[in-house]
Amino acid sequence: MKTKHPNLHQFLVRANEGGDLSRQELVSMIPVKLLDVKPSHLVLDSCASPGSKTSQILEVMLSKNASGAVVANDASLQRANLLTHRCYRLEAAAKNLVVVNHDAQTLPLELENTFDRILCDVPCSGDGTLRKSTDLWKKWSNSSGVELHSIQVNVATRALRLLKYNDGGGRLVYSTCSLNPLENEAVVVELLQRSRGAIKLVDCSKMLPDLKRLPGLTKWSVQDLKNGRWYDTYDSYVKDNNNRAGQKSKIRKSMFANTNNHKHNLDRCFRIHPDLNDTGGFFVAVFEKMKPLPTEMIDIDAKEEQKLSRTTNANTKKWASAKIAPVFCVKTDTEFKAVIKRIKAKYGFDARKKEENGGVEIITRNNTDVVPKRLYCLSKGAKLILDKCSRNQEEQQKLRILACGLCCFERQAVNKGLKSQSDDTDCEFRFTQTGCELFQDSISKQVVRVSPKELESMLARQQQKLFTTSKNAPLCIDDKTKKKVLSECQRGCVILAVRAKSSGSGNKRKLVEEEVAAVSPVTIACWFPPSKKSRSDGTNDIDDDVTLTLMCSKSEGEVRLERLRELGKLKLVN
Ligand SMILES: C[S@@+](CC[C@H](N)C(=O)[O-])C[C@H]1O[C@@H](n2cnc3c(N)ncnc32)[C@H](O)[C@@H]1O
Repeated sequence: MKTKHPNLHQFLVRANEGGDLSRQELVSMIPVKLLDVKPSHLVLDSCASPGSKTSQILEVMLSKNASGAVVANDASLQRANLLTHRCYRLEAAAKNLVVVNHDAQTLPLELENTFDRILCDVPCSGDGTLRKSTDLWKKWSNSSGVELHSIQVNVATRALRLLKYNDGGGRLVYSTCSLNPLENEAVVVELLQRSRGAIKLVDCSKMLPDLKRLPGLTKWSVQDLKNGRWYDTYDSYVKDNNNRAGQKSKIRKSMFANTNNHKHNLDRCFRIHPDLNDTGGFFVAVFEKMKPLPTEMIDIDAKEEQKLSRTTNANTKKWASAKIAPVFCVKTDTEFKAVIKRIKAKYGFDARKKEENGGVEIITRNNTDVVPKRLYCLSKGAKLILDKCSRNQEEQQKLRILACGLCCFERQAVNKGLKSQSDDTDCEFRFTQTGCELFQDSISKQVVRVSPKELESMLARQQQKLFTTSKNAPLCIDDKTKKKVLSECQRGCVILAVRAKSSGSGNKRKLVEEEVAAVSPVTIACWFPPSKKSRSDGTNDIDDDVTLTLMCSKSEGEVRLERLRELGKLKLVN
């Protein structure tokens, strides 16, 4: 492979860093496939780190009109940070993302009956990965399944409470990379029994028809680790332990197969053994919620939450010492309205277009008494999640939010001292690189179309000063573009964009457009600083000394360069 495709490795690394490509084991992709996420859905990934499946879900949110949200949670703060880093590679979908740090057994009940889709890829013994994780052979013990069973039931129970039941029902996918029935079928049966008909297993037999799988088990035994004996029923286990079971023992009644198992449609579960498809081992079950959970199930959940309060407190302390900036929803006071008005005026926003594409909301991460330094964009769905969990606009969220939304604007004043701040066109905010990509289809000012070649040479040279009219300096931008910048743009943020080629007709044209949408459009934010000769009315002198600076970082530039070259090869830009 190395000789045939010498640049393949480099390409894979770059595409992975830029979020254009993410790799995952085949079986690990099944849960999200069965989740059937739509761009308008509110989705919870309850145990999400390192984020392979969250990234797979987020790909759906890359669609132009995605108004939905993905709440990605992990109990470990360190792993939630890893998750954030990984998910933010899919830059455009970050507007739909909220990363939180909670024990999934106690996720806030403000979100009860909220999510259309929930993934519970629960912590498990991981025995399905023994082929690739050779170190697990030394660590694995039969106790893992026993220890994890209750957590797995609790995580799924809380998730079921947060799942919607109206509008055709919410869907929850439960998965593990374990083949131990205590972590799989026993959990599924416990949930079905507790729910008293509020949930059912979905028949997925027609989905992924080429994937070889086995039905869920209906019979299994449980080992008492103290004496090594195996038991088929809880009663026989209790009898052998002189009726003292349940006091100190970790073995629970719910771990045993029961005689009613054949009634639960366990054949609807996917059991994927490594030898079937030459993959890792995996277990998946898909639930649908048809009505609210019964009081009894909610009571059990509340009791478990009480028991867990000690761990939750420990997490809260860790969170407090991590000093993570809180999220504030932007106040709609007149001062801030004026800021938005200036942004709209400077960049010629067509709010209708953005609305047609799902719309966005704006938040900041500092108190908005002063004009904030950064503005973040959120999808409508993500804002809805935030609103549900905040008691009022000023107070911190009930959700422990680590990251949310896409930073689209940063404060950088252009004409300090030259013009008054109250002037509608004197906007103190510039686009970030990702911000201009998100809004590029709804702005009409400060945008200059350039040829792919021109942009390619700029990105390739990625250096501080890109072009200047002073005689000895190297030029890497056409005269035509230079004139356009001078005549059409105000000082400050200027966006250079290549035009997507729409050739062909009918289906062929549609395909081309879809391909263009799949590879992010190449749009680059630049800084056009005020000239010493600039007129006080903000217009430019045609003989100005012009300097443009790329605002994307070197790595952001590298990713865009790669995209541009790919688009060029596909003849999708002109
Ligand atoms: C099987 S991994 C998830 C893998 C992930 N879905 C992916 O595809 O990249 C389980 C994750 O659950 C987290 N975890 C363990 N206990 C948890 C709990 N009680 N609540 C939430 N997350 C938990 C672990 O930190 C771990 O990151």
